[in-house]
Amino acid sequence: MKYTLITGASSGIGFNLAHIFAKNNHNLILVARNKNALSHLKKKLGLLYKTDIKVISLDISGEIGAINLYKIIKKKTLKVDILINNAGIGYHGEFLEKNIQSDLDLINLNIITPTILTKLFLQDMIKVRSGKIFNIASTAAFQSGPLMSVYYGTKSYLLNFSEGIAEELRDSNIRVITLCPGPTKTTFEKMEGIEKGLFKNFHIADPEDVAKYLYQNIDTKKDVLIHGNLNKFIIFITKFIPRKINLNLIKKIQKKK
Ligand SMILES: NC(=O)c1ccc[n+]([C@@H]2O[C@H](COP(=O)([O-])OP(=O)(O)OC[C@H]3O[C@@H](n4cnc5c(N)ncnc54)[C@H](OP(=O)(O)O)[C@@H]3O)[C@@H](O)[C@H]2O)c1
Repeated sequence: MKYTLITGASSGIGFNLAHIFAKNNHNLILVARNKNALSHLKKKLGLLYKTDIKVISLDISGEIGAINLYKIIKKKTLKVDILINNAGIGYHGEFLEKNIQSDLDLINLNIITPTILTKLFLQDMIKVRSGKIFNIASTAAFQSGPLMSVYYGTKSYLLNFSEGIAEELRDSNIRVITLCPGPTKTTFEKMEGIEKGLFKNFHIADPEDVAKYLYQNIDTKKDVLIHGNLNKFIIFITKFIPRKINLNLIKKIQKKK
């Protein structure tokens, strides 16, 4: 039996991805730390759909977390044919004002974890000559982001890393696709400082729409999916704006009002 592995499935975009994949008959492995939320989700999906749902409550942050997750899945002899690296965190505020641990937490979950999971599951996918990996980056990946500098940096890494491997795998049957959502109504919206900055000044998408968009594009030939026409337009226009002006603009948008 083949499974779609979704990290960060206890809330937000991952929660909605779990729904849409279950609705479309995918067997699922759902991962997050919140055990109750996962059990509740499993129960709900079990009542609605006939797919097999496994849940793994685990901190997948960094090298230890990612390798633990892979080992658990191997021990259960579950075969993953779609991996969705969705779990991610962010913080808002001046880089200098945050402690180093906050930066490391972000880098561990947003960079180290998806890199390791991509490597390990890709090795398995290559053996069976099929598979798909979706890495959830952000529209933040296309530029630097004052007041969320580390977060924007991690998403830029994820986008560039994923596009690189997509090209390396061009002649294979395996696809690596990066999804870039813009601001979306999830727990991100409640992040201290963000609600008065970016989330006040921008169109906010529904996480269900983001999840639907990914599923509609499951067989896309594109390497990068940007959710929302406005986001697509802004990213296009940004290419023609001098970087310094763009940085200043983002700083203004991110600032608390
Ligand atoms: N919301 C936005 O505006 C936005 C925009 C662009 C991109 N994104 C990206 O979309 C992805 C999903 O975020 P979201 O907006 O849906 O936020 P969310 O509701 O906060 O979801 C984050 C998920 O990651 C899980 N998670 C966090 N730390 C974890 C850890 N150490 N180990 C395992 N799971 C962990 C959380 O579950 P537990 O707390 O239960 O572990 C939760 O299920 C992220 O990569 C984010 O960067 C979000």
